[in-house]
Amino acid sequence: MQRILVRRSGPLSGSVVVPGAKNSVLKLIAATLMADGVYEFSNVPGISDVDTMVDLLEALGVRSERVGGGRMRLANSGDLTPIAPYELVEQIRASIVVLGPLLARCGYAKVSLPGGDDFGSRPIDMHIKGLEAMGATFEFRHGYLEARAEPLHGADITLSFPSVGATENIVMAAVLAKGTTVLDNAAREPEIQDLCELLNDMGADIVNVGTSTLTIHGVAADSLHAADHVVVTDRIQAATYMAAVGVCGGEIEVVGARPEHMAMVIDRMAAMGMTIVDRPGGLFVAAPERLRSVDVATLPYPGVATDYKPLLVTMLSVADDVGIVTENLYPGRFRYVEELRRLGADIRNDGHHAVVRGRPGLSGAPVRAPDIRAGAALVIAGLVADGETSISEIAHIDRGYEDLDGRLRRLGADIERAD
Ligand code: EPU
Repeated sequence: MQRILVRRSGPLSGSVVVPGAKNSVLKLIAATLMADGVYEFSNVPGISDVDTMVDLLEALGVRSERVGGGRMRLANSGDLTPIAPYELVEQIRASIVVLGPLLARCGYAKVSLPGGDDFGSRPIDMHIKGLEAMGATFEFRHGYLEARAEPLHGADITLSFPSVGATENIVMAAVLAKGTTVLDNAAREPEIQDLCELLNDMGADIVNVGTSTLTIHGVAADSLHAADHVVVTDRIQAATYMAAVGVCGGEIEVVGARPEHMAMVIDRMAAMGMTIVDRPGGLFVAAPERLRSVDVATLPYPGVATDYKPLLVTMLSVADDVGIVTENLYPGRFRYVEELRRLGADIRNDGHHAVVRGRPGLSGAPVRAPDIRAGAALVIAGLVADGETSISEIAHIDRGYEDLDGRLRRLGADIERAD
């Protein structure tokens, strides 16, 4: 079992290159189920969730190889087995997005139900309701969801909440459905836009990409083809390096960051006193000696993403004054607060809310990474803690971060990986 060891660091300097987005590439990989041919994706992050998703696609019949330099080739010969086994699905929640493509392409899918996360239950009722409106039928037996549809037809669907995964499943199913689907209250995350752009390059007909009302005109299966794609940059990884500067001080270039995808988190960090300036190809980021506290509420895009929240709570833990944090997506997503308290953070939480009283610094201790984003936040907290912070269960971090410790070390942080 590896651990990450962090000691008080700063100021940080230099530049960091942000890899492609986990929450885009996993869905792009699922989209290769929809048309035969060879796809080449670039800017693919070196994270373990990609390996797991690739294993799942292999089980379904899509071959893949990494070809170096962040590139990956996937080959779909059309010989698919539409059964997503428990062993793979339980490792990665995003695997539920094979449901829409398999159903559209094969008329049948058997997918193990994904489990919850440390931050709470994650139902898929909206995915099912949307696909049912398009003519799919579902049976749940022995932990598997069996879906049938011959064929899917277009439908007018309004999501009760702009769910990322439900939007992706419904859009991919609608691409091969007969007729037109209008999906209202669709999620608008940049990663969904990235998926729609790949699908349109493959021959799909999706209109109003990037808006909350997507119109998808179904196309014939034989008019879809493979396409190449560059994965959009990871806004959450970008924000992680910005948070590191926020607590350590210094100035860095975040190369590849897309400010247009991060407007609200940039707004919150700027309100905390950080200097964040657009530069060609990225962002220049600098921090004052001590951050100021602000209030933060998470919302679906373009609001402040829930995935930024552990980082923002960590920043508030050492900011001047009191900040109130409200979680509107996952009420259970405060469990890592106990780990931050072990580092001396003064945080009180109740239901959707946390009150964070900033302290001048934290105090190093052993902690465990409960999930991807909370794990990264504990690493950032360790950068502003006296003594040593040892983070265990870092496999969670490696699911979504490409070389987080190496990248921070190259910015001047005192951080290492130990067995
Ligand atoms: N929800 C339902 N029913 C559904 C679907 C969602 O009630 O059928 C609820 C969820 O329980 C949650 C809310 O709606 O309360 C939002 O869920 P959403 O479907 O939008 O999330 P997701 O697609 O399961 C993705 C990201 C998450 C990120 C959320 C919210 C991927 C692989 N995961 O999950 O990222 O937190 O959107 O932005 O894209 C992470 O990267 O660490 C991560 C957890």
